[in-house]
Amino acid sequence: MPDVVRFPDSFLWGAATSAHQIEGSVRADGAAASIWDRFSHTPGSTTNGDTGDVACDHYRRSAQDVGLMRDLGLNAYRFSVAWARVLPEGRGAVNQAGLGFYDRLVDQLLAAGIQPALTLYHWDLPAALDDQGGWLNREIASWFADYASVMVQALGDRVGMWTTLNEPWVVADGGYLFGKLAPGHRNRFEAPIVSHNLLRAHGAGMQAIRAAGGKQAGLVVNLEPKHPATDRPEDVAATQRADAYMNRQYLDPVFFGQYPEELPDIYGDAWPTFPAADFDLIRQPLDFLGINYYTRSVVRDDPAAWPVRAARVTQPQHAYTLTDWEVYPPALTDVLSWVHSRYGRVPLYVTENGAAFYDAPAAIDGRVDDPLRVHYLREHLRAIQVAMQQGVDVRGYFAWSLLDNFEWSAGYAKRFGLIHVNFITQERTPKASAGFYAEVIRTRGATLSR
Ligand code: FCB
Repeated sequence: MPDVVRFPDSFLWGAATSAHQIEGSVRADGAAASIWDRFSHTPGSTTNGDTGDVACDHYRRSAQDVGLMRDLGLNAYRFSVAWARVLPEGRGAVNQAGLGFYDRLVDQLLAAGIQPALTLYHWDLPAALDDQGGWLNREIASWFADYASVMVQALGDRVGMWTTLNEPWVVADGGYLFGKLAPGHRNRFEAPIVSHNLLRAHGAGMQAIRAAGGKQAGLVVNLEPKHPATDRPEDVAATQRADAYMNRQYLDPVFFGQYPEELPDIYGDAWPTFPAADFDLIRQPLDFLGINYYTRSVVRDDPAAWPVRAARVTQPQHAYTLTDWEVYPPALTDVLSWVHSRYGRVPLYVTENGAAFYDAPAAIDGRVDDPLRVHYLREHLRAIQVAMQQGVDVRGYFAWSLLDNFEWSAGYAKRFGLIHVNFITQERTPKASAGFYAEVIRTRGATLSR
């Protein structure tokens, strides 16, 4: 048990969401389609054919939702901007009505004492840009930088934390290699090009945020520690490849200006040569790094599993969430220490952490009891305390998610919220986990050691 029982007063206690997962009103007030609108309306793409058309109706209920955040005691809120609301064509003319939504949201947050943490890209690329190649087009770095400038010029006086991209690995792996996420491509040649353009856009975005006077700016990655199933050399090598592919593929270029040495072997003949100058753009100093942590993965060698030739081994003695992710809090301590020792003293935030467990679709007698989620949150917050005790500079925690929401291809069936949403009535009911988290915040973590 850590003896640091209280988190520092400056610690950010947040919750996270993303635009397409909660807003609904996807075409309201001049907004244009994103790749997620297109993808979810393509038959067979999502569970039950669910779409983000209505989601949590947050676009029309943001004032109520900010009130719920205030009731929780949050002092920070991580949300994303729907690029196609602000720039329907992806670039060029600004849709003032769409921008106005975020302008009001930021003011509502500040009035409630909640710091806005804004993510520019959480997966909903304007469809108009996808029509021009999307992440495959090298021009996207400057399209993204222009979009970043528009946002910082509008909100930079009030938003203290800017994130360029959320989880570039998922964009490339889910969107372009395995096709489970928008835009649904399955092309092994595309994935490394997309990853590289995401990183170039991140670098150009960092420059644009700074040039427009944005305050703190950084990147959010999802990290999943890889542990070998056995000490056989084949399994150990597979574990290294899995780690290079998912964890180091994005951080090594940003911090060291080069890709991990395993990548050419992993991608084989699909691995291109990249212009050396690109790495100067990619390697922008970060004010912070956001880490999304959900699970670890135990790995064995599997020559049939392209591209990494590694397979996940289920741990029968451990609990799994509804998204089939092993509950393994110690790896959160490990991953925070690993980033600290490998990449240096960049301030860290846990920008997502949470779990889907079965919650009834409607509250029963006004209550939603979610003991597994309470346990998950408690153990992961303790894991962060341990990392902080070891000297890792963790400055905040954002629970995923504020609300049950549109969980991408899994639709509405996977509930991650601290606050239950009845998707028929749009009624919000704080779950037991919301009460637990509010108490953690109120006591600055002291309640965790009880
Ligand atoms: C992360 C995404 C987030 C949500 C959670 C469960 O990978 O960033 O939007 O889907 O997983």
